Amino acid sequence: MFFGRNKQKLDDKGKGKVISFLNQKGGVGKTTMCFNTAYALAQKGHKVLVVDMDPQANMSYLFGREENEKSIFNLLLNTVKELKQMHTSVIFENVVYKTEAGVDLLPSAQELSGFELCVASVNSPRQTILKKYIEQAGLRKRYDYILVDCPPTLGLLVVNSICSSDGVIVPFRPDDFSMKGLEHFYRMLGDIEDMELVELPEIITHIPNLMDSRRKQEESDLHEIKELIRKVTGNDKYIAPFFNKAQIVKSQAAKKSIYDYNSKEYRPLHEQFNKIANLIDSWNEASL
Ligand SMILES: Nc1ncnc2c1ncn2[C@@H]1O[C@H](COP(=O)(O)OP(=O)(O)O)[C@@H](O)[C@H]1O
Ligand SMILES: [Mg+2]
Repeated sequence: MFFGRNKQKLDDKGKGKVISFLNQKGGVGKTTMCFNTAYALAQKGHKVLVVDMDPQANMSYLFGREENEKSIFNLLLNTVKELKQMHTSVIFENVVYKTEAGVDLLPSAQELSGFELCVASVNSPRQTILKKYIEQAGLRKRYDYILVDCPPTLGLLVVNSICSSDGVIVPFRPDDFSMKGLEHFYRMLGDIEDMELVELPEIITHIPNLMDSRRKQEESDLHEIKELIRKVTGNDKYIAPFFNKAQIVKSQAAKKSIYDYNSKEYRPLHEQFNKIANLIDSWNEASL
């Protein structure tokens, strides 16, 4: 394995696993994959929390959450000793948004974009604020899976997401630019590992998304990216591609998961997301 030099035994703070959906490019399907995977895991009987770490709050919008409520931003600032006094105290229960499907949400808000500035001068480690929060709030005990939807950057919010994760899933669009983006991303993982702050999360899989069978170039771009993934992870850590599907656009416009639809056109998507949920479960079992 290329990554994993700092691997240690898991502590006993709960068995729940944290998984980030990452790619510094926007529009590759992080939010879409994270949202539907959360519902796929809930379908299997798991208790799932989704954490929206993107100030653009697309995920929170999908959950139909109103603006101006308390967000993950308040919880994170409350975790930092030096900042605590300056902010109103909030707890998990004040912020979490619960749904009947067994998927809960810690929503984001625009103000999360000021996170980096807010913590710029604190002495405690800035990279592990989310990790610390997850531990303090005992979230690994409350949930089987905590899925983090990341913003399209490689900034402090993403570093925090990586540092709190056990695993990462990387959706990408199979084009030339993605190749460069993935190379940057792997380099960043290497940098984080070198900091020796945390045990680096495992790459669970990559998801080629928004394939368009009419673009000939795509097949060869995808092939090259698969070679890169094999080189970096030492493994074939990618799954069958998702094509550009009207059903995904339609369900998201209605703020619904693909499991809210039972018609024939949705079956292949159900199967694809069921496979992702099974893959996550196998990865989890293998790490026990
Ligand atoms: N496989 C797909 N087929 C059709 N539309 C998709 C697919 N995956 C994502 N989309 C759409 O593409 C846009 C960008 O996806 P999104 O998940 O928001 O990306 P990101 O979170 O990486 O910025 C959204 O409008 C989403 O509905
Ligand atoms: Mg997004």
